[in-house]
Amino acid sequence: MRTHYCGQVDESLLDSEVTVCGWVHRRRDHGGVIFVDLRDREGLLQVVMDPDEKAVFELGERVRSEYVLKITGKVRRRPAGTENSKLRSGQVELYARSMELLNAAETPPFMLDEAEDVSEERRLKFRYIDLRRPEMQRRLRLRHALTMAIRRFMDDNGFIDIETPMLTKATPEGARDYLVPSRTHEGKFFALPQSPQIFKQLLMMSGFDRYYQIVRCFRDEDLRADRQPEFTQLDVETSFMDEDGIMGLMEELVRNVFRSVLDVELPKPFPRMPYHEAMQRFGSDKPDLRIPLELVEVADLVADCDFKVFATPAKDPKGRVAALRVPKGGELTRKEIDDYTAFVGRYGAKGLAYIKVNDIAAGRDGLQSPIVKFLSDEAVKGILERTGAANGDLIFFGADKARIVNDALGALRQKIGHDRGMVEGEWAPLWVVDFPMFEYDEKEGRWFSMHHPFTAPKVSDPAELAGELDRIVSRGYDIVLNGFEIGGGSVRIHRQDMQAKVFELLGISDEEAREKFGFLLDALKYGAPPHGGIAFGIDRLAMLMAGAPNIREVIAFPKTQTAHDPLTDAPSEANPAALKELHIQVRKPPKIS
Ligand code: AMO
Ligand code: AMP
Repeated sequence: MRTHYCGQVDESLLDSEVTVCGWVHRRRDHGGVIFVDLRDREGLLQVVMDPDEKAVFELGERVRSEYVLKITGKVRRRPAGTENSKLRSGQVELYARSMELLNAAETPPFMLDEAEDVSEERRLKFRYIDLRRPEMQRRLRLRHALTMAIRRFMDDNGFIDIETPMLTKATPEGARDYLVPSRTHEGKFFALPQSPQIFKQLLMMSGFDRYYQIVRCFRDEDLRADRQPEFTQLDVETSFMDEDGIMGLMEELVRNVFRSVLDVELPKPFPRMPYHEAMQRFGSDKPDLRIPLELVEVADLVADCDFKVFATPAKDPKGRVAALRVPKGGELTRKEIDDYTAFVGRYGAKGLAYIKVNDIAAGRDGLQSPIVKFLSDEAVKGILERTGAANGDLIFFGADKARIVNDALGALRQKIGHDRGMVEGEWAPLWVVDFPMFEYDEKEGRWFSMHHPFTAPKVSDPAELAGELDRIVSRGYDIVLNGFEIGGGSVRIHRQDMQAKVFELLGISDEEAREKFGFLLDALKYGAPPHGGIAFGIDRLAMLMAGAPNIREVIAFPKTQTAHDPLTDAPSEANPAALKELHIQVRKPPKIS
């Protein structure tokens, strides 16, 4: 129907006749003349509807926002002073000679220019309109550029794209499964994959050597800004490569993608940091290294003080007392400190002690703090020295179980860094390595895999998996970008005896292991090569690259934070006949009257 996209009409087409199709973005009636900004996926074009062109003008008087038009006309230069340097078509306009109304539109539920003020629920309900916005078009096209760049790189490097099943068995990635009832096997269920983990390992055992897939994964977990119940991974597995080889190749992929999509050169190599160092210095295993704030250990300085809040965790091997110096933090008002105290409360912190450093030379008198009165001179001196405090600074403290202190101060560090404009540089990629194999869950009273139970330990003999479980280090690695975990992987266990030992340590009985992963244990017996891989969260990567505030903004049809889709209203009740065929009876929770 068209000869050109609206957004591509520029000075090179001056005086030519073009036909464009698109939506009425804006219509302005300037008495004698009507101006319409016509929009398509490539951008806007100003169309002039002059009374001299009678048919055009009459139709022009009737068109409204979001009407769909086909317009033929002549490209001419805009009158001096009316150019728009922000648009590719900004030097020109289309003088309409003929126009066809392809479809009318009711008044849209919100104007595209006003979407910022519309609730997200409403944007998602009318997502097809929301997606017309140039910003959304840009985001989804960036995502397309990202997956194209990935596919090119993977293909150039000998990776083979292989699909794995969606109706399958549970994969242990730590979330709840989405279950799909089987009609043909009464009372049985498929699970949607949390990842293709086991299948990609089987593909290595089948000799494909380098596999990848851009694949949907399903996890029924609590949602956050960077999580969706269904999301997309770039899933990768290789044989005969160790962690250095895999990390090297995968960071080359990330550099390549950033270069081709954003024209950004990332550092080479990416820095690496052991898990324990990341936790000590940043309270997080995914630190944003653009923020120049660090946690400092002060437990030894306060272990003997009179302040129980500090002394107790300082003496507890599972406790931690840490300080976070905020340069020029003396400027913080009482209200701001109270707000930060409430903020860390969300992570379980029971308070947020602080010292304002007014005049370091004046000793105690130069400090303003609710807690210095409990601390000895040596402790105060030690804290000031260790944190490197200067006049005008403020030092925050966290004291509790290490997990709480890390969560709270780790998040506070991030928040203060952003609030106070301390973010340095644009991109900070990081590999976090040397993760513990296992972590203990206090609530459940048992050990879990920190990655997943197929991750290999650093030791190669199962007999060496003894002693304190939390001291066993894995061959796992995470890739972090600007404080987000964008990917994670590991070298896998490829020996059956080692896999059986790890299941045993996780308290998975032989019976359960056979029932859940018997096929994997069997496959390991028939010549499994050493192998390892990684999976990237494509949505998170796209979010960061697009500068979007959350992953829903880079997904065409996402779910809300409660895993609901306002557009289709899914999930919805099932047809009783379908349930009957599936041998399922729904037991509604009793209604509370
Ligand atoms: P993992 O569970 O770390 O590893 O997932 C890999 C990456 O996927 C992204 N991700 C998510 N993105 C959006 N919403 C979610 N709910 C979500 N969950 C995870 C993250 C994460 O880093 N099979 C292993 C990989 C391997 O060992 O090769 C796995 O799935 O960016
Ligand atoms: P309190 O004696 O409870 O009034 O606390 C004195 C100061 O210590 C206040 O500034 C509290 O915010 C702070 N505080 C209390 N508990 C903790 C904790 N677990 N970690 C850090 N600071 C705390």
